[in-house]
Amino acid sequence: MFWSSPYFQAGFGLMGVTFVFGGLRKFTTVADVFLRRRLLVQVEINNKDRAYPWLLSWMARQNQINQSLKRGSGSLISKSHRLSVETTVEQHQNGSSSVSFNLVAGTGMHWLKYRGAWMQVVRERDTRSMQMMSGNPWETVTLTTLSRDRDIFPQLLAEARDLAMRGQEGKLVIQTPWGTEWRPFGLPKRKRPLHSVVLDNGIAATIENDLQSFLNRRQWYVDRGIPYRRGYLLHGPPGSGKSSYIQALAGSLNYNLCLLNLSERGLGDDKLTYLLSTVPERSFVLIEDVDAAFNKRVQTSEDGYQSSITFSGFLNALDGVASGEERIVFLTTNHIERLDPALIRPGRVDFTQYVGDATPNQARTLFERFYGTEPLETIDIGQNLHDLVKEEMKYGRYVSMAALQGLFIRNDDAQGALVACQQIFHEIKST
Ligand SMILES: Nc1ncnc2c1ncn2[C@@H]1O[C@H](COP(=O)(O)OP(=O)(O)O)[C@@H](O)[C@H]1O
Ligand SMILES: [Mg+2]
Repeated sequence: MFWSSPYFQAGFGLMGVTFVFGGLRKFTTVADVFLRRRLLVQVEINNKDRAYPWLLSWMARQNQINQSLKRGSGSLISKSHRLSVETTVEQHQNGSSSVSFNLVAGTGMHWLKYRGAWMQVVRERDTRSMQMMSGNPWETVTLTTLSRDRDIFPQLLAEARDLAMRGQEGKLVIQTPWGTEWRPFGLPKRKRPLHSVVLDNGIAATIENDLQSFLNRRQWYVDRGIPYRRGYLLHGPPGSGKSSYIQALAGSLNYNLCLLNLSERGLGDDKLTYLLSTVPERSFVLIEDVDAAFNKRVQTSEDGYQSSITFSGFLNALDGVASGEERIVFLTTNHIERLDPALIRPGRVDFTQYVGDATPNQARTLFERFYGTEPLETIDIGQNLHDLVKEEMKYGRYVSMAALQGLFIRNDDAQGALVACQQIFHEIKST
């Protein structure tokens, strides 16, 4: 029977114990402390910990399951009167964005039943003291249960972690600095298939082989006392697929991306060094447009703000002895000639690759990705496009892959795309 269930009684027991403590405290704090130590176990998790958001969304999930199915391995009992909203805005590749709301347990006390064990959940926020760099208030969630049920904490946390990971499976997580911490930026994004980025013959394979052999040689580096790091520089005109390729590559290896913007306000040499030495595991660091941050003149934005990163500070951060285990950095630039040679030195940049405008083969392959290879005349049109690009190349005229993609999106029919491409070259000619 429900009433005679040992766990149900335990639930009351637990509530009772807590209640009694309230009274006892007034008389004898000593006895209170003693009993708490004997009968209850507590875990405290604060919002600096990675498990913190996992736990909150796990609790939110229990609430949802409760409402829809009336079951689940845990159930949130407070029918929470204090919920708080977590809003996530996701920016899609096509520029649209969607907003989702997640109701999580608000501050205050909640009761939770998990695998038959009752526990008290207290979420507290300390608004007076802010965390040093990130400026967020301190928060803690404290779980309290009877000591005989102490084993469920690891189980619960593992379940929360699995739930969080499942949400990311097949997705790419992008992180950006938040003060001195890396934090997820938006929701995990759908991965871009690697083959959807068409680079010139052999380029993708060369990069992938290099990276793969680096990943296979961890021990080799360790044995020789060399920092286990690799730096890649992709350079070339805009719209050639540098950023897209790096993203797709990260996704294909189940890596995440840490985006670092060197011109970001408030980023100084120290913070940069710290961020680069605390990159989350299995992440590429992506630093776009490295040339822009260190123009000969001091960068000044419209409101007179000056970037406070120095070039030597950047080099030091890349060299940093304090750096963590494994580090894979990707740099991109449209102007390699503006880069100081000191940057392109093994240990900082180990691999440099030019990614250029559309070659005839690239144009044809991208074309086929959009229009397929049927009927036969589509193949012919693809070939014509190939020949067109080849012909124009002789006169030093190029289109970017981004521009071709734009044409293919706008034109439903293959022939129309070819004509539009001829027009583009015509315009280049006349300017
Ligand atoms: N090589 C390519 N293959 C497929 N799509 C590409 C390629 N290059 C550019 N694009 C498309 O053009 C757009 C801009 O590409 P992006 O990766 O930002 O270029 P870059 O970083 O070199 O300036 C993206 O939408 C991408 O899909
Ligand atoms: Mg780019």
